[in-house]
Amino acid sequence: MAQPVTQEQLIQDPHPIYAKLREDAPVSPMQMMTFSGRGWVVTGYAEAREAFTHPALSRDGNKYFGALDTGLDERVRAAMNHHMLNSDPPDHTRLRRMVVKVFTARRIAALAPRITEIATELLDAVKPGEPVDIIDAFGFPLPIRVICELLGIPSRDQDAFREWSNVIVAGAFAGDKLPVAAKAMTDYIHELLARKRTNPADDLLSDLIAVRDEGDALTEDELTSMVFLLLIAGHETTVNLIGNGLYLLLTHPDQLDRLRADRDLVPSAIEEVLRYEGPLRSALPRFATADLELGGVTISHGDIVMISPLAANRDSDRFDDAETFDVGRGHTQHVAFGHGLHFCLGAPLARLEGKIALELILERFGTLELATELDQLVWRPSGLMRGLAALPVSVTLAA
Ligand code: HEM
Repeated sequence: MAQPVTQEQLIQDPHPIYAKLREDAPVSPMQMMTFSGRGWVVTGYAEAREAFTHPALSRDGNKYFGALDTGLDERVRAAMNHHMLNSDPPDHTRLRRMVVKVFTARRIAALAPRITEIATELLDAVKPGEPVDIIDAFGFPLPIRVICELLGIPSRDQDAFREWSNVIVAGAFAGDKLPVAAKAMTDYIHELLARKRTNPADDLLSDLIAVRDEGDALTEDELTSMVFLLLIAGHETTVNLIGNGLYLLLTHPDQLDRLRADRDLVPSAIEEVLRYEGPLRSALPRFATADLELGGVTISHGDIVMISPLAANRDSDRFDDAETFDVGRGHTQHVAFGHGLHFCLGAPLARLEGKIALELILERFGTLELATELDQLVWRPSGLMRGLAALPVSVTLAA
């Protein structure tokens, strides 16, 4: 009989495990750490797309969170979970519409010069000739500074955010630290909201406080949850886009050379990083509100379904040479940003940050090499994310 897969194996090397599952059954039963009911994992591309839009698969965690043992007290849970990614229409429609009013394409595009400035400042501190952890020096601080500035979080508080969101993303792996970090972050956001109410500034948070939809404002819990969502969705994922992107280029030197020779390929390379080694391993739960058929299996009312974008994006029924990392592949309708109603609201920002980060790195560093053995690299323990804990590199400046 086949050996059961351990969490550790799934974190360090998920692809062969997902490939086997996809081959055997694109929707397979799985055991969940924090859910006692029946769980499923979706590893096929067509099945993932269907699950994203299935009317009997709900995204409303609040209705089901009673069944998940998160160890959080009620006040913190309410403040963390009333956001659009935890809701179905009509609530989802209202919440998303309110954010879209202030988180506009124009606002995102206008961030480009500031993102370039922050990225340049961070790269200035990377010394040629000395091994440096490029995730710690660049991949982490860039997106957190961008999202904090966008929201209007003072720079002195950004380190605390990094700390809390690290713990929150680790989820069940963080043990006792999770409720402490979640409470600290909730208290901080409440204080920040109070300050912005009396002293509005030119930032997204002040705009979110002021935004009205048919006369309705966001409630305190909805605002707090929105900040949680934007901060965590907005930076933990982008860190991994940058980190995984650099890791892939370092381990595929022919693709790095190709990109150096043709910088116009950068947007296509970003899409390929998202497809091939995207930031989210399996973070996308859906709750069955009725019995349904998916990928040839019967899912029962009350089951939980986890969609794995990482697995779906390597499905050879959808992608030619799915196991080949090809920076010229272009846009492929990968599902790294999801699909349907909950399609990532921050995708344009993530793409912009990824593009600026990669362009600056290519421009500045003549060589970029891994400063450790491949088998020494460690992937961060998380039920959700796919990202390296550290990526030591050594660089030389371009001539
Ligand atoms: C939703 C991925 C960056 C904000 C999602 C979803 C995915 C995703 C897969 C859908 C989840 C589901 O259907 O269950 C990513 C990736 C990113 C990224 C891979 C980086 C490479 C960002 C950024 C922001 C952001 C930078 C904000 C500034 C959101 C929000 C939602 C969302 C608000 C919820 C949308 C809704 O429920 O309607 N993201 N994201 N994301 N993302 Fe992102």
